[in-house]
Amino acid sequence: MSKKLCAFAPATIANLSCGFDILGLALNSVGDRVEVSFAEGTAITISEIVNGDNLPKAAEKNCCSVVMQKMRERLGDTRGINIRIYKGFQSGSGLGSSSASSAAAAFVYNELLDRPFTKEELVPFAMEGERVACGAAHADNVAPAILGGIVLVREHNPIDMVQLPVLDSLYGVLMFPNIKIKTADARQMLPEKIKLTTATKQWANVGGFVAALYTNNYDLLSKSMQDLVAEPTRSQLIPKYQDLKKVAETNGALAFGISGSGPSVFALAKSEELAKDIQKAMLDCYADTGIETMSFIDKIESKGGARLSASF
Ligand code: HSE
Repeated sequence: MSKKLCAFAPATIANLSCGFDILGLALNSVGDRVEVSFAEGTAITISEIVNGDNLPKAAEKNCCSVVMQKMRERLGDTRGINIRIYKGFQSGSGLGSSSASSAAAAFVYNELLDRPFTKEELVPFAMEGERVACGAAHADNVAPAILGGIVLVREHNPIDMVQLPVLDSLYGVLMFPNIKIKTADARQMLPEKIKLTTATKQWANVGGFVAALYTNNYDLLSKSMQDLVAEPTRSQLIPKYQDLKKVAETNGALAFGISGSGPSVFALAKSEELAKDIQKAMLDCYADTGIETMSFIDKIESKGGARLSASF
């Protein structure tokens, strides 16, 4: 029987409020799984997408097959591949759904090929999955989805990333209101230009955020996680966004923001107890909206990222 491998890659929070398109954080409990094996012939085939009826199976349109195609092109490998995909969370949630699949695809295919690439070298391939899924090959989801922890993307082309330390005790509260926001649309609504005074404040926040991680400084982290670039426009797409922010902060959140391009929102907390209080307050706040919500809490770790997993 031909070798078959399966990998998991986690959901991610991109931007982390202060670092639009350059910061991302790997979650742990939620993610996608991708299984791959060699097949007869030279074609790349997707035989099954579990929980992803709306996703394309055509090899040139699916992020997993596009990632593997780019990898085998680079290696001059023409062996056929069969792919199965398990979607662990909804696409269009703002939690890096295409990125989790792209990252798992890059990781598992690299393992099948006996690791011709380092984990860092897998990131640009996974970015091609993002390009086909949302039109922009940004790395702030795929980099943490592959490497784990918190990643700063200093430069996209050529890719240059810094893995940042994580505070001693940090919990993420994620809430996904089930409304549709496409990343491509959410990117369209961003301002083309921002004022120099706004940019100055924003890059000061990124500096503060990085310093906070290296010095384990919760106050500095909290002050620095402000978004003057995307939140002002994108928050208008999320019902009761300002109310959610207020209840999260009142209940002890260090930070609150939009996860990636939304509609998911996130809060960070210093302890699991606070995270639970914040989650309850956020869900209570949403109870009268009639919008279906999904929420979970994850401990934020400096490791994690893509890894081999059991099949599905
Ligand atoms: N940085 C990207 C954006 C993330 O905000 O558009 C999309 O998940």
